[in-house]
Amino acid sequence: MKIKLGVIFGGVSVEHEISIISAVQAMNAVDKEKYDIVPIYIAKDRTWYTGKMLMDIDIYKDFEDLKKFATKVTMYKKDNSFYLQSMGLFKRIVEEVDVVFPIVHGANVEDGTIAGYLETIGVPYVGSRVLGAALGQDKVVMKQVFAACDLPIVPYTWFFDNEYLNDADKITKEIKKLGYPVIVKPATLGSSVGITVVKDEAALDDAIMDAITYDTKIVVEKMVDNLVEVNCSVLGDYEYQQTSVLEEVMSSDEFLTYKEKYLGGGKKTGASKGMASTSRVVPARISDKLTEEVKEIAKGAFKALNLSGICRIDFLIDKKENKVYINEPNTIPGSLAFYLWEPSGKKYSVLLDEAITLAIKDYKNRSKKTNSFDTNVLSNFSGVKGVKGLKGMKGGKLN
Ligand SMILES: Nc1ncnc2c1ncn2[C@@H]1O[C@H](COP(=O)(O)OP(=O)(O)O)[C@@H](O)[C@H]1O
Ligand SMILES: [Mg+2]
Repeated sequence: MKIKLGVIFGGVSVEHEISIISAVQAMNAVDKEKYDIVPIYIAKDRTWYTGKMLMDIDIYKDFEDLKKFATKVTMYKKDNSFYLQSMGLFKRIVEEVDVVFPIVHGANVEDGTIAGYLETIGVPYVGSRVLGAALGQDKVVMKQVFAACDLPIVPYTWFFDNEYLNDADKITKEIKKLGYPVIVKPATLGSSVGITVVKDEAALDDAIMDAITYDTKIVVEKMVDNLVEVNCSVLGDYEYQQTSVLEEVMSSDEFLTYKEKYLGGGKKTGASKGMASTSRVVPARISDKLTEEVKEIAKGAFKALNLSGICRIDFLIDKKENKVYINEPNTIPGSLAFYLWEPSGKKYSVLLDEAITLAIKDYKNRSKKTNSFDTNVLSNFSGVKGVKGLKGMKGGKLN
């Protein structure tokens, strides 16, 4: 029997459209002998839809007109199976799913929210769990974890918006210690939104005030000189990690954006999210030694953040100094980074199959762990009166 693979994509994110492209690419590449695909599209109004038509990219050009042909659904568990049930008056089971593959990008979806939802339902799913996904979205906490694991990061400082608004001088002094130029980023956004390169103190306030319009938490990093950007995809879980060949990102929107900002053009463009079409050189033109170093750090970062599935870890290299810094992980990268695995000798269908197999293995392992206890606590709890006599409680309050 084929495995029923629910592919979740879309969602309330600025990278909604990118997610549609990534998901349609993946659904086309999945081995149809082994898997039956159940597309699950989360529209911008948060409604969930299913229907085979959702595998066709053209549908999204007129989704508002065509959505009446898709079925609105919700996911639930019954006995040991997972179902998509239609909404409205006459509820019916529309599809069953065995495992779910979230292919979503950005805040509100990739940051652990979808993982948490699937975790609550109890359905097996591909990719990082709540902690890894959340760490992957927060540029400050991820750095704190990297530093604790002795992984190389650029010098940085961070603060909350209210701290800057209350005492800008104090924070400006901290930033001065990093040395200009610096780069100001909202901590949890992505897509280069709200990011500005700042050449000197005179331009700092504008950059911070701009970042504050997007996020409550701001990170300021020292700019890496002689910059070469390379990315490495990692496939695996906490026990085992495989790395792909490296790509050198040549003229992605991010890079151009940075250049434009750095040269004072101030033009703001959306990022490419590192999709298959971005201009790049594979493999990256760096020495074997540096390549090995990047791969080792990528595996270390993957483990440090508790990541699973297919990720892409991005690096900043000072080419003159041969110094490598981790920039950030992408826990669900654009195009699932398949274009890095094909030159590594892994077809896209095989990459997807391995990621799904890891998810099923992980689910089985976790199901063996104890996660509930037989307890008589509730049977002793009989309202306010009973509370008083309950062990471990005083005056009706839990100790
Ligand atoms: N410390 C840095 N030094 C030099 N360039 C940087 C630095 N941080 C970011 N950049 C440039 O800005 C781009 C976007 O920054 P990044 O932290 O990756 O944000 P996003 O989450 O929006 O992708 C990077 O791809 C890189 O080109
Ligand atoms: Mg980036």
